[in-house]
Amino acid sequence: MSELVKINLKVNGKNYSAEIEPRLLLLDFLRENLALTGTKSDGGSTSGTCTILLNGVSVKSSYILAVQADGSEIVTIEGIAENNELNHLQQAFWEMFAVQNGYSTPGLIMSLTDLLQRNSHPSEIEIRYWLDGILSRDTGYQNVIAAVQLAAEKMK
Ligand code: FES
Repeated sequence: MSELVKINLKVNGKNYSAEIEPRLLLLDFLRENLALTGTKSDGGSTSGTCTILLNGVSVKSSYILAVQADGSEIVTIEGIAENNELNHLQQAFWEMFAVQNGYSTPGLIMSLTDLLQRNSHPSEIEIRYWLDGILSRDTGYQNVIAAVQLAAEKMK
């Protein structure tokens, strides 16, 4: 067992301090230490179900050690709603039947949140390009693209 390392970070607006193993993945820290189980593991694939916002940028939390997130600000799917209401993107997913299984949807929402922060009116091609890092084989991507376009309209 290696020596524990202390980290401090903010997750969904709340400050946390923890002593952890240096090799602990950020994904496992969020799920196991903070019980934020909305961020999913795909069991070793690269599907992006574990996507979160790290200092405002979408990243795969299984690719990052928790110690690397020391001092950063994280938003997970649990922190994305606004005033306890679905935000525009979540609502659009609901309205356009873009919700897929419980594994894919959180990663899609977090990744597409980053896209809409960077580009408030992405074209279909830009959305498709952005989705390259998130795999979902349930219903395809057409309804997801429609949901992003609807969210962009609502956010005008
Ligand atoms: S758990 Fe597979 S990409 Fe993160």
